[in-house]
Formats: sequence, structure tokens, C-alpha cells
Amino acid sequence: MDTVLSGIRSTGRLHLGNYFGAITNFVELQHQEKCYFFVADYHSLTTHPTPENLHTSVRTVLAEYLACGIDPEIATLYVQSDVPEIPELYLLLTMNAYLGELERTTTFKDKARKQPDNVNAGLLTYPVLMAADIIIHKATKVPVGKDQEQNLEMARKFAKRFNFMYKHEVFPEPQAFNFGKELVKIPGLDGTGKMGKSEGNGIFLADDAKTIRKKIMTAVTDAGPTEKNSPVAEPIQNLFTLMEVMSKPDTLLFFKDAYANCSIRYGDLKKQLAEDVVLFTTPIRERILQIENDEAYMRKVVKLGAEKARESASKTLKEVREIIGFKAF
Ligand code: TYM
Repeated sequence: MDTVLSGIRSTGRLHLGNYFGAITNFVELQHQEKCYFFVADYHSLTTHPTPENLHTSVRTVLAEYLACGIDPEIATLYVQSDVPEIPELYLLLTMNAYLGELERTTTFKDKARKQPDNVNAGLLTYPVLMAADIIIHKATKVPVGKDQEQNLEMARKFAKRFNFMYKHEVFPEPQAFNFGKELVKIPGLDGTGKMGKSEGNGIFLADDAKTIRKKIMTAVTDAGPTEKNSPVAEPIQNLFTLMEVMSKPDTLLFFKDAYANCSIRYGDLKKQLAEDVVLFTTPIRERILQIENDEAYMRKVVKLGAEKARESASKTLKEVREIIGFKAF
């Protein structure tokens, strides 16, 4: 049985990118493998949330995970900051992580560009904390979106380095996982890039039907094809990509054909896409509202998750401490 782990930063509501990048596969896997799913609240500190925002976001992400179908009795669902073994392993790993390799990470360079007034050490060592998250449970499969590919490569590097330095095969090599398929990148509605939490280009699982329709109807498009089989511009390709995950194959084919023979009406495509998204998100949204209001259930889930996660994490940490040379007197 493989150990699978996935995490999401608590920086706001979950969007379709999070769902298709990190959650769908996991929901399926929890019945076959040993699965860990957690809310990365330490990671969210790199962008300095207020104390109220921090707590609300953790709560929201937890409720949304549950609403998507993660079963806390089967999988281990927990909050990162409830497991003190993770920051300890992170500290130990930082001793063998080097400035040059951390500075070269794409996610670090992106963040440093986006928030030039807050280039903190937590941003720099972000991949080390992520590696600790993964290897503390000796996870081998990590369902993530395409944007996390490099962080997974770093996690493998830190795991292998530790094994090599101490001459013990402690950590298996974690792999980004999508059932052998390319990792997904769900695009945003603004015509470029990927769907994000703070880019203003996302569809959130908790959005109501009216909001979803409005967002999709105002998605960026172009003037439309004028010649048969003309190349597809990025904004249109993005809508097709969304349709690929949200709509029936026939629907996608219909609009692709319409594009190829220049009869496409973007308004019709958007209306269809909006209805397909609404159909998909409505039951999830209803469950989110229900779970968010159930304080006692959330408390129970968090407590159970922390117990299960700490059991596994403390075993690994004990082994690591002994290997490094921390010995009892
Ligand atoms: P975060 O919170 O940015 O995103 C959570 C997960 O959602 C995926 N994702 C996407 N996938 C496809 N298309 C998109 N547009 C899209 N946007 C987000 C991400 O790839 C990710 O899988 N560093 C992580 C959280 C984390 C983590 C971990 C993940 C901390 N420790 C250990 C896995 C293992 C992050 O910021 O994800």
C-alpha cells in the first residue's frame, strides 16, 4: 500500500484549480491507499495573514475538503500546525538546504517579484517545509497541480540528501502524482496563466450559481476565427480546457468543431460552460454551507486528524533524531 499526501495552503476559498490539481485524485485514492490530507497553515504565514484571517481560512479549507468527499475516518485529515513534529523536521532539513538552490526555485522568484517588500526567509525555505510535510509520513505519491512540480523535485532532493548524508534509507522518494498522466494546470478566466486564489480569475467551489454565470460570461475571449482551422488563441484554449474537465466530451467536440468551421458563438460556449460548472459545484457548495455551520463536527475532525497525523509523524521523527545523533543521557 502506498502512502499518499496532499496539502493546500489556507489562504482563501478553494477554486477549481485546487480541486482538479489536488483533490479529485485523492478522493478516489483514500479507499485504496494510506492517505494524508492537510491544511498548510504555516505556509500561509509567508503572506502575513491577520490572526482572524488565519483561523477563518483554516476552517474554510477544512470544511471544503470535507465537502469534496474526504472521509476523515478513512483518510487522515489534519491541520499542519497541530503537528509539531513537522516544524522540527523542517528545522533539521534546513541544515542541509543551500541558499543557491533555494534562491533558484521558480516559486520563490515569483513571490519575490510579487511581494518585493516582504521577501522573508519563510518564502525562501518554503520548499524545505513542504519536503518536511511530505517525508514526515514517508509519502511516495503526492497529488499536485503542475505548479508544484519543482517543489516536489526539491522534496526528492532533500530526502535523498538526508539518506546519503546519514547512510540510512530513511525516506522514500516522493513523486508528483496524477495516475501516470501529465499534471494538470487549470487556467483562469482572464485569458492567461493559471487559476489562482488571489488573481481574481478563479471560480470557487463555494461560488453561487449567479456568481459563476457572471464570472464565466465576462471571461476574456477574442474576435473569433475568420478562417477555417485557424490556430486557437490562449483565452479560447483556456475555455476549452475548462470545458474538458467540466463538460461532456460531446459538448467539447461540438464547440471545437464550431471553432474550426468558424461558426462558433462564444456566448453559447460560455452559457454551456457556466451551466456545467453550476451543476458540478452546487452539491459541493451545499455541503460546504452545512459543514461550516457544524462546529462540533469540525472540532471532532480536527482532533482525530491531529492524533492520527502525530502518531505517524512522531515515529519518523524519533528515527531521524536517532540517526542524526541525538541520544538520551
Ligand atoms: P496551493 O494552496 O497553492 O494549491 C493547492 C493545490 O492545488 C493545486 N493548484 C492547481 N492545480 C491545477 N491548476 C491550478 N490552477 C491550480 N492552482 C493550485 C496546487 O498544485 C496544489 O496541489 N505549497 C502548496 C501547499 C503544500 C503542499 C505541501 C502540497 C504545502 N505542503 C506538501 C503538497 C505536499 C501550495 O501552496 O498549494
